[in-house]
Amino acid sequence: MNQSFTFITGASSGMGEATAKLLSLDRNLILNGRDEARLAAVGDACAEHGNQVLLFPYDLEKADGLAATLGAFLREEGVGVEAFAHFTGITEVLPISKTKYSVGLQVMNINYFSATEIISTLLKRRVNAGRLEAIVLTSSIVATVGKKHQAHYCASKGAINALTVALANELAPSVRVNAIAPGSFKTRIIQTLFADTSDDAEWAPPTLLLPGAVEDVARVARFLLSEDACYLTGQIINVDGGERFPKL
Ligand SMILES: NC(=O)c1ccc[n+]([C@@H]2O[C@H](COP(=O)([O-])OP(=O)(O)OC[C@H]3O[C@@H](n4cnc5c(N)ncnc54)[C@H](OP(=O)(O)O)[C@@H]3O)[C@@H](O)[C@H]2O)c1
Repeated sequence: MNQSFTFITGASSGMGEATAKLLSLDRNLILNGRDEARLAAVGDACAEHGNQVLLFPYDLEKADGLAATLGAFLREEGVGVEAFAHFTGITEVLPISKTKYSVGLQVMNINYFSATEIISTLLKRRVNAGRLEAIVLTSSIVATVGKKHQAHYCASKGAINALTVALANELAPSVRVNAIAPGSFKTRIIQTLFADTSDDAEWAPPTLLLPGAVEDVARVARFLLSEDACYLTGQIINVDGGERFPKL
């Protein structure tokens, strides 16, 4: 097997799942997540369109072992990765005075260092039988407007923004690097934080447009990975329905 694949992290849920399902219409996929049952269900749905789907379940908190494990997986499968979309993300909600260094490291490993480890692995010719052409990272509007009690999360997304522009410079012209900065979407990450309330007003800040869905993010990811975005690099696209604007 030596066809081109798109590698998606966070594919077992939310925006990554929606992006996987959309891209499965015309791309071969490698899907990463931690929950193997949910990942397999997404894989089955994606495979219905006749393209190839490989599963790469791995806990990205173990960022230090990621390069070796992913490298071995790609060599064994003999596949080439042409595009990478990074949707994995966790947060924690605590005042800075109560946060722990270990949790900060966990957030940075999962949200940020897993991306750098994957990208560096995919750029190695001896590991990736393909030629990486496009990367989409997931930031958040909180990287620029902030959010109280989520300092580590905001910092990890600020790091993603800096990585986006750094790598856009470093990897041009062969690889385009862009990011999506979503506003608030009611996915698992939000449902876990607000499990005690069924009142959407508790978690959903006002937006200028009607509330969005994960498919709105998926369509932007598909565009950024496609030839239609061939002259875009180093862009961080807010997909937030206007949530970031100050409320009057
Ligand atoms: N939802 C929002 O309001 C919002 C706003 C701004 C930015 N974002 C960002 O958007 C991205 C997608 O989030 P989402 O809203 O779609 O959340 P989600 O539904 O909770 O999805 C998060 C994904 O990350 C994976 N993940 C978490 N920890 C992992 C680990 N240790 N190893 C491997 N995979 C892990 C999950 O896999 P498992 O479920 O298999 O563990 C899941 O597939 C994240 O980067 C998030 O920070 C979300």
